Amino acid sequence: MVRSSSVVPAAVSLFHVAQAVGNGLAITPPMGWNNWNSLACNVSEDLLLSTSKKLIDLGLQDLGYDHVVLDDCWQSPRGDDGYVNADKEKFPRGMKHVSDELHSVGFKFGMYSSAGEMTCARFAGSLDHETKDAENFANWGVDFLKYDNCFHMGRMGTPQISFNRFKVMADALKATGRNIALSLCNWGEDYVHTWGMSIANAWRMSGDIYDSFSRPDALCACDTNNPADPFCIAPGTHCSVLFILNKVAPFADRSIPGGWSDLDMLEVGQGGMTDEEYKAHFALWAALKSPLMLGNDLRIMSPQTLSIVNNPAIIALSQDPHGRSATRVARNTSVPKDEYDIGETHIWSGKLKNGDQVVILLNAANEDVEMSASLKEIFTPSGPGGSAPQVKESWEVFDLWADRMSDANAQAILDAEDQASRSEVLKKLNWYNASEVSYKEGLEKGDERLFGKKVGVVEPRGQWDVLVERHSAKVYRFRQVNGEAGDHDEL
Ligand code: GAL
Repeated sequence: MVRSSSVVPAAVSLFHVAQAVGNGLAITPPMGWNNWNSLACNVSEDLLLSTSKKLIDLGLQDLGYDHVVLDDCWQSPRGDDGYVNADKEKFPRGMKHVSDELHSVGFKFGMYSSAGEMTCARFAGSLDHETKDAENFANWGVDFLKYDNCFHMGRMGTPQISFNRFKVMADALKATGRNIALSLCNWGEDYVHTWGMSIANAWRMSGDIYDSFSRPDALCACDTNNPADPFCIAPGTHCSVLFILNKVAPFADRSIPGGWSDLDMLEVGQGGMTDEEYKAHFALWAALKSPLMLGNDLRIMSPQTLSIVNNPAIIALSQDPHGRSATRVARNTSVPKDEYDIGETHIWSGKLKNGDQVVILLNAANEDVEMSASLKEIFTPSGPGGSAPQVKESWEVFDLWADRMSDANAQAILDAEDQASRSEVLKKLNWYNASEVSYKEGLEKGDERLFGKKVGVVEPRGQWDVLVERHSAKVYRFRQVNGEAGDHDEL
């Protein structure tokens, strides 16, 4: 494949090999499950252990979902000795037991606290207790800490103040000697995308997601369409998928291996969006390199939900070793709007390790739209105004949803009586298993299960035209015709 190294200065190429916080963790976006979106405070040992079993049985662990993350509400009040222990009713055998059980079946254990006096659900927070809490987390064998922002006692307002507050926990975790990934949850406050990567493996960049594709809600208080207030200080909750995409768009490129913009846990399967909306949500979270934390209750999963989150061709976008987010190369707001005055289309584009390009045409307008993406637009990140060398090449277009698992097969997995018969179904389908062949290896070898189905070709300087249904996204891998796969240091 033609890629002149002179396109990008050497210094920039070197930056590519840098890792964010440098603790060697989260080299690709973390994947797993978190209880908050579906179960909120309804947490228990049984929930975590039965969910971990589901992740194994449904073949999801083997697709890379290897974190089980416990969110808020696990705590009993801070004791006189200064330590917080698990609520005995919810966790009768304590946290170490849960952690050991999860580790014994190959999971990483994620926990939650807040850089505040209290957590958001008003349990004991870690602010000014970082050393003891970090000690506890390390003793329990915690691998990942989601670290929230509620009740911060006024210690925010500038990037430096927030940075200082969160850094105390980063240092306390480091001092334990256990390598614990840190996932900041300060909702994009104080420009966290400019400093999160120096102390953490991920940083939330918006208020809480809710189960809506595009409906605005006053609880998601920041207005990303207001240029005077792009990073307002009351991020709120009930932020839609479209809202979050618009918020991250200007700084999507900040993620690098080891440090990721967190677009929040997935809502796929929660019931508030259509199948097409969930597919768009999932694919964009993958292409934008957000952590992929399932947020649905796995005990009541539909076949459609399973066949969205188990699509290896989409997950391979997330786990691509190049480790760069797709960026938005076009946004059109002159399209039909809904009753909330919402309506727009986007094109997102991003380089992948082997020289392929992920291209997503998102239709958030209020009707079906004929969309076009020109090579000039698609390769804007590699050179403005059509100057990128890729614009002069021919590209084969592969649809990454084409090989989605059928409802019948997904149902067969959900219905199987035991793990052996589930594995049988997955084996028969020859479904991708990243525990056997990592995404990196599969991509290098050209494993066809990661590449979707060819649906056309774009000639040099050409464009791709397609009808995109209302509230859906077309997700493609563009592959250079006769291109040789190779390593690319360009950003
Ligand atoms: C919010 C956070 C949510 C969840 C919740 C728990 O601040 O953004 O993801 O963790 O707190 O109380």
